[in-house]
Amino acid sequence: MKLNAAAEMEPISWPEFANIHPLAPQDQAQGWHELIEQLEGWLAEITGYAAVSVQPNAGSQGELAGLLAIRRYQVDRGETQRKTILIPSSAHGTNAASAVLADLKVVVVATASDGLIDHEDLKAKIESVGDELAGIMVTYPSTHGVYDTDISMVCEAIHDAGGQVYVDGANLNALMGLARPGKFGGDVSHLNLHKTFCIPHGGGGPGVGPWPWPSTWCPTCR
Ligand SMILES: Cc1ncc(COP(=O)(O)O)c(C=O)c1O
Repeated sequence: MKLNAAAEMEPISWPEFANIHPLAPQDQAQGWHELIEQLEGWLAEITGYAAVSVQPNAGSQGELAGLLAIRRYQVDRGETQRKTILIPSSAHGTNAASAVLADLKVVVVATASDGLIDHEDLKAKIESVGDELAGIMVTYPSTHGVYDTDISMVCEAIHDAGGQVYVDGANLNALMGLARPGKFGGDVSHLNLHKTFCIPHGGGGPGVGPWPWPSTWCPTCR
């Protein structure tokens, strides 16, 4: 779901961007701070969340950060038993890997033949997990490229059962300007800007896996 043209990546080789020392004093990196704050603000607006951190270096790092935040939020509310996360079988492999790293148990939700989440199976899994439900990791649009038209209902069903909704926003490029995860039911997301804005992919490179979260988690955020 991406096309990164070499011409679009060229600006990262400009010395003004590329040659800043990682330990440069704050007062010599003011332009960088301005760029970062502006980007965080724009991403919050695009996604419908209250605030964004661009600290994670890849989508998968954003996933881990988001899941740990969900866990801390629930532990803080005394819901320490919420240690099971639902993940549709169509999900990218990093979802389950991040969940295991966050010390969560993964329960897979079936995907119907048309690529949508199997709603009967979702209902059954929510019931069987009961009050151990930490939440769901749902990719929108999915890795199959399918827009689950019932996404708001999926989020609502998880919230009704006391869980949190992690919207994997890796495919934001197919969503931008059309829908906002923070508005249709997501509690936290990561974005894969290597797909949205043609930046280098994370992992071994200078990637960004921004991580937006909602105002309910942070009442002082704008
Ligand atoms: C749907 C989805 N989630 C998560 C990831 C993981 O992102 P990253 O490779 O930046 O860790 C990807 C990778 O492109 C993805 O397509």
